[in-house]
Amino acid sequence: MTGKLIVLEGLDGSGKGTQTKALYETLKARGARVMRVSFPNYGSDAAKLLDDYLHGAFGNDPADVNPYAASTFFAIDRYASFHLNWKQFYSEGGIIIADRYTTSNAIHQCAKLEKAQWNGFLDWLFKYEYEQLGLPVPDAVIYLRVDPEVSQKLMTGRYEGDEGKKDIHECNLPYLKQCRLAADYCTDYLHWRAVECIADGAMRSIDDIHAEVLSVTDAALA
Ligand SMILES: Nc1ncnc2c1ncn2[C@@H]1O[C@H](COP(=O)(O)OP(=O)(O)OP(=O)(O)O)[C@@H](O)[C@H]1O
Ligand SMILES: [Mg+2]
Repeated sequence: MTGKLIVLEGLDGSGKGTQTKALYETLKARGARVMRVSFPNYGSDAAKLLDDYLHGAFGNDPADVNPYAASTFFAIDRYASFHLNWKQFYSEGGIIIADRYTTSNAIHQCAKLEKAQWNGFLDWLFKYEYEQLGLPVPDAVIYLRVDPEVSQKLMTGRYEGDEGKKDIHECNLPYLKQCRLAADYCTDYLHWRAVECIADGAMRSIDDIHAEVLSVTDAALA
């Protein structure tokens, strides 16, 4: 008996943390066996290399580290988190709600490549993480779709206006715009469920978005 894995994905500052928490709390209140995980798993030894990358140790342009190398940094973090923290819960039938997953590599690393290279990269990525590393395949990927300009402002708000707190992905608007193109492409190619989070140029309310995320989750758990 294996559990279920529901992934919340989206650009930086798209509300993944907010929606993961809300979904976890609703499922928990219903009495479900549910656990929340988050990637990167900051603070874990396995996250050290990706943390260095995000803070410019290998260069301040995301393109300074090629997508295959950067992907392995993040994949190792997931491997460690799975084996050390949630494998047993999942294998006993629990529901895992993940804030980011392999799908973040898909978005953030495709953004470094030409579009003609995306399918080849994605095919490599999912074979590597799901088949070769043996990480669980999600039952649903819920893509929180936002405009990069709006998510940039939300992040600035979260960092209380201190732009210096943004990492090398977060502070790079052209890169985030590429990520948005890649995320939209992945949604079609990989059959993610898109939840449109913007209405009339602004974020929809947390509760509205949550209601839609919950309904997609219920369908995936049914
Ligand atoms: N629907 C919403 N309306 C207004 N503000 C929101 C909404 N959702 C999230 N926020 C706020 O926007 C900021 C970014 O949200 P959150 O931290 O959940 O995003 P994230 O996708 O987890 O970001 P990151 O990619 O940086 O981890 C937070 O300050 C959060 O409170
Ligand atoms: Mg977050």
